[in-house]
Amino acid sequence: MSSCYSRLDADGSKLRGHEPSSFAFSAQKLQILYIVWMAKFEKHIFICGNQRPVGHPRGCCDPGGAAGLQKLFKQKLAERGLKGKVRANQSGCLDQCEHGPNLVVYPDAIWYGGVAAADVDEIIDSHIISGKPVERLMLSDSCINTPNCEHKPRPLLPAPALRGK
Ligand code: FES
Ligand SMILES: [Zn+2]
Repeated sequence: MSSCYSRLDADGSKLRGHEPSSFAFSAQKLQILYIVWMAKFEKHIFICGNQRPVGHPRGCCDPGGAAGLQKLFKQKLAERGLKGKVRANQSGCLDQCEHGPNLVVYPDAIWYGGVAAADVDEIIDSHIISGKPVERLMLSDSCINTPNCEHKPRPLLPAPALRGK
């Protein structure tokens, strides 16, 4: 290895020396930090809070910009003692707009569409707590990241016109 090769440790300080053991130690430290960080939240719920102008062909998940779904998830997770274990974050557009309001649960990678306030209890109790996703609200693989699906009856516009985010 060249003598000018240098690395930073996880805390940003320079590692002394270039021995393989130094690198192994650094990688191990990063892995431990990653595991500790991940352990803080068992699940992440990302809830689209995107707005678009009225009449936009793709619609949007949170026309009023009130983040009502995200706030409700946050409140109900806290009521169940899940604060610190499950995080409900407002997200930008998840690019599944025609199926909204949308959210996705990680690390499960389960996508939900057409979610209403009345569905929040069921998603938390069935999926988040009991590990059983709510099938009636799940977006199918044929809907996610496909150029068209049964829910997109409008002819596709040229790509730039679709990008109203
Ligand atoms: S506006 Fe919610 S997914 Fe695009
Ligand atoms: Zn669809």
